Amino acid sequence: MRNVTRDTLTQTFLDYCGAETDPRLRSVLESLVRHLHAFAMENNLTHAEWRKGLELLTKAGEITDSERNEFVLFSDVLGLSSLVDMINSPDDCTPSSVLGPFHILGAPDLPVGGDLKGDNDGPTVIVSGIVSEPDGTPIKGAEIEIWQTADNGLYSNQDPEQPEYNLRGHMVVGDDGRYLFTTIRPQPYAVPDDGPVGELLHATGRHPWRPSHLHFIITAPGYRSLVTEVFPSDDPYLDADAVFGVREKLIMVYEKQSAGDPVPSGLAAGDALTDPYYKVDFDFVLVREA
Ligand code: BEZ
Ligand code: FE
Repeated sequence: MRNVTRDTLTQTFLDYCGAETDPRLRSVLESLVRHLHAFAMENNLTHAEWRKGLELLTKAGEITDSERNEFVLFSDVLGLSSLVDMINSPDDCTPSSVLGPFHILGAPDLPVGGDLKGDNDGPTVIVSGIVSEPDGTPIKGAEIEIWQTADNGLYSNQDPEQPEYNLRGHMVVGDDGRYLFTTIRPQPYAVPDDGPVGELLHATGRHPWRPSHLHFIITAPGYRSLVTEVFPSDDPYLDADAVFGVREKLIMVYEKQSAGDPVPSGLAAGDALTDPYYKVDFDFVLVREA
């Protein structure tokens, strides 16, 4: 096509894709380019605006390294990461939510009833629940990975003062599907806003804060893996998460307990709970792999 016009450009692009193009790639690209061209036309995009967009992407490339991925962060603050989660989360299981950039492999084993709190400051929380199928059948041997922020709102891999695997654990549940551990209350934190994502947030009057949360990855052979987060009901940012990760079904309630109140059996830190503490019960539902 030599005389490409506004009206023929999208179709011309599609015609240029060869017969060998993978059908799924063709259909996703077709849709992407159709929306991209429609976006530019709908907004009468100026050269200056087009350049600004490319400048933000260029800066994202410059700031991205093995520790920080600004493109993922763009996807997070634009709601794309959460939308992909929603599209791929079956209705009858616990909703998934963003993985985030602070997960690391190799978290140490934590027995059921184990203690993640260790020497960390902050109020103790006993977290427990069941991993089950939608009908309530416990999933024996399900594996749970947990990670969270310390009392200063930083993950261990953001903070040289914390041991590498601070507040991270890997638990295998028993025949009853039950998990149980002690930890501290995680703290809200701000996503990095010193790069192009921050520029976008500031230009649109948005803050970079996320409500506090516990991260979980739950896996079991034959079941769809679940990557999710659980948020306390009293967090000030619950309705203003910068990355849109909160779902009603992912809200947990801290129940305040007095020092000396009975603790669940098998709790490693049981005798050490001499101060008031909190309890949280949260169950996870996995569905079988299709
Ligand atoms: C997190 O939950 O760790 C996170 C998620 C998205 C962006 C930044 C952090
Ligand atoms: Fe997080």
